[in-house]
Amino acid sequence: MAIIINESGRVFTLQTKNSTYQMAADSCGVLLHTYYGAKIDAVDMSSLIHKSDVGFSGNPVEAEGDRTYSLDCLPQELPTSGVGDYRSDMIRIIHHDGSCAADFRFAGYEVKMGALDIPGMPSLYDTDNEKAQTLIIKMSEKASGAVVSLIYGVWEDSDVITRSVKVENRGSHSIVLDKALSCSMDFMYSDFDMIYFSGRHAMERNFQRTPVGFAQVAVSSTRGTSSHHYNPAVILAKPETTETAGECYGMCLVYSGNFIASAQKDQREQTRAQIGIHPDWFKFTLNEGEEFYTPQVIMSYSNEGLGQLSRQYHDIIREHICRREYKHARRPVLINNWEATYFDFNEEKILKIAKQAADLGIEMLVLDDGWFGKREDDNSGLGDWFVNEKKMGGSLKQLGEKLHAMGLKFGLWFEPEMVSEDSDLYRAHPDWAIQIPMRSPTRSRNQLVLDMSRSDVREYLLERMTDIISNAQIDYVKWDMNRSICDIYSAVLPSDRQGEVYHRYVLGVYDLLERLLARFPHLLLEGCSGGGGRFDAAMLYYSPQIWCSDNTDAVNRLDIQYGTSFFYPTSTVGAHVSAVPNHQTGRITPFKTRGDVAMSGSFGYELDLGSVSDEEKLMVKQQIADFHSYYELTHEGDYYRLTVPKTKPFMAWEFVLKDKSRAMITMVMTEREGNPLPVHLPVSGLDKDKFYRCSYNDVVLRGNVWNNCGITLKEIPAQYESIIMEFNEVNE
Ligand code: DGJ
Repeated sequence: MAIIINESGRVFTLQTKNSTYQMAADSCGVLLHTYYGAKIDAVDMSSLIHKSDVGFSGNPVEAEGDRTYSLDCLPQELPTSGVGDYRSDMIRIIHHDGSCAADFRFAGYEVKMGALDIPGMPSLYDTDNEKAQTLIIKMSEKASGAVVSLIYGVWEDSDVITRSVKVENRGSHSIVLDKALSCSMDFMYSDFDMIYFSGRHAMERNFQRTPVGFAQVAVSSTRGTSSHHYNPAVILAKPETTETAGECYGMCLVYSGNFIASAQKDQREQTRAQIGIHPDWFKFTLNEGEEFYTPQVIMSYSNEGLGQLSRQYHDIIREHICRREYKHARRPVLINNWEATYFDFNEEKILKIAKQAADLGIEMLVLDDGWFGKREDDNSGLGDWFVNEKKMGGSLKQLGEKLHAMGLKFGLWFEPEMVSEDSDLYRAHPDWAIQIPMRSPTRSRNQLVLDMSRSDVREYLLERMTDIISNAQIDYVKWDMNRSICDIYSAVLPSDRQGEVYHRYVLGVYDLLERLLARFPHLLLEGCSGGGGRFDAAMLYYSPQIWCSDNTDAVNRLDIQYGTSFFYPTSTVGAHVSAVPNHQTGRITPFKTRGDVAMSGSFGYELDLGSVSDEEKLMVKQQIADFHSYYELTHEGDYYRLTVPKTKPFMAWEFVLKDKSRAMITMVMTEREGNPLPVHLPVSGLDKDKFYRCSYNDVVLRGNVWNNCGITLKEIPAQYESIIMEFNEVNE
């Protein structure tokens, strides 16, 4: 049993293969967090809590004068606001009289087989109700009629526990949710570092590690999207935890909008960790009988270091977030015309690229920005999703037929959520754009954002996209989103509900994505937001791959793909071979290296094949063959990070098949020095008893030898050169 409830019905132990999570409702009805860590017996761990009279930490009435009982000190599952816990709260409610207290007490529980869907939002799915169990703990607010359901999904085999929250207003007045996080967790006795991923456009998800002390450590986005700047997924790791050893806890939010993830020590040196929708710019009214769901957070624990934690996330995301045909089906190797032509193309140019691509074995052409409306540059046309037949010299139907006749799939770029002021759509419906009346909105890339909370906006987009996708027989859509959101306001919501717009926007995006996919069951979506500005678990529910970064430089990509790998499997990482000097950095790297790096992702090309040498053309053919031969490893295998950026003159990583019959290591020389030091690569994850032949030196050794000794390169590669080596099981 994954969910164990003791005889009193008040101690709840959630067991996964290697971890235990426990909470207990005490005699005051407060739900205490008693344990999360390595697997233990299901015994009540409330005894770990030490109570003492702490000055300036008050006592609730149920404590009956016990001055050692204070909400300000207890480890809790649902920290309340305004009633004596001065730490960061999880749910904050404004009542009809303006008061702000929220004081929840245990009111029962329910257990269900399978995972619970969250209405309108993505979450881990369990098709046959066989992988997960769900525990729902009800907590009622003392005075207002608000009821919170704490929803715990237990994924026993995956070492994953999910949390989300339903808030219902069962009272007789409206309430306003002022803060509604998905999860709050108090760790009683540990020190932690917070690992998070910071960045910027074209340089996303840089690994950061910082100790958690008494000053709050928090990362967040108020940009309307999960953002390039911080990712909605963080790790709490013990200070001594490394890639291969030690304890760590992940919190990965399945949400694409504003978020906050924080950790802070309290006066007793307990650490409170939280994640959820950012409370800034958020106020959600619940009238009598209405309910609100928070997004889901996927939690996981490992005591075998960060690498194992990542592999747990990769498995759960691959199996229970990604869905539909392309969950496991091979993603087509694509060529995208963006860096080859930018806006300067017509049908002839596209067909030329397509012909060259088809000859080399590329499987899909993706027509990027510029095929619609008046769109010669990025100042106009967004929203006018009608083919610019003058520019294209005909219809997309005709182009689609020609591409399909060459044996290529046809992919098409859209940026559905945006509108240019210089567009027919904006001229007809200025109120469809997010802007505050009587104020001039902020432009970004000279464009405005459509109010996706409006059903009429979504209907228009669904109709336009449906028309184009079905007419031109589109196989793949790249769904882009190229600015952060501000000037938040919806023309269809009353003044006291404007605090709902950011969240309703996200729900609107999910609604449109879901309905579009329902119409086109075979469509492959690739998410994009100026590269990786919305690279989160929620978007992966719709698009099993996301354009990881607008930065295609193979060397910068090493760091970007490294940071991305902590939560997201390589199958989700859109990665392309582009031209040199690289358009973002000016760096010149070998063609082989660009291929080797992009192959650790959903692979493609983004360059003018006309300017590629004959030798490189042969390499394209070889790379495509290699990509297919490595596909099981890169898209379904276990991933091992072998190096940390900038700590060695090279980067290396490894994939191992689940049955451990095959592995591959990729290494790239990043900082070649004169009179170089030896390059020694660790090897990980091989079966200790199996024999493997290494393709690099043709040596056969048992897995325990490879795993413990690694491999030393015979020659040091030149600057930016790369090597891929395989380890294949042999019978000795
Ligand atoms: C941003 C994307 O990340 C690029 O790949 C490209 O599609 C441009 N937008 C087009 O405007």
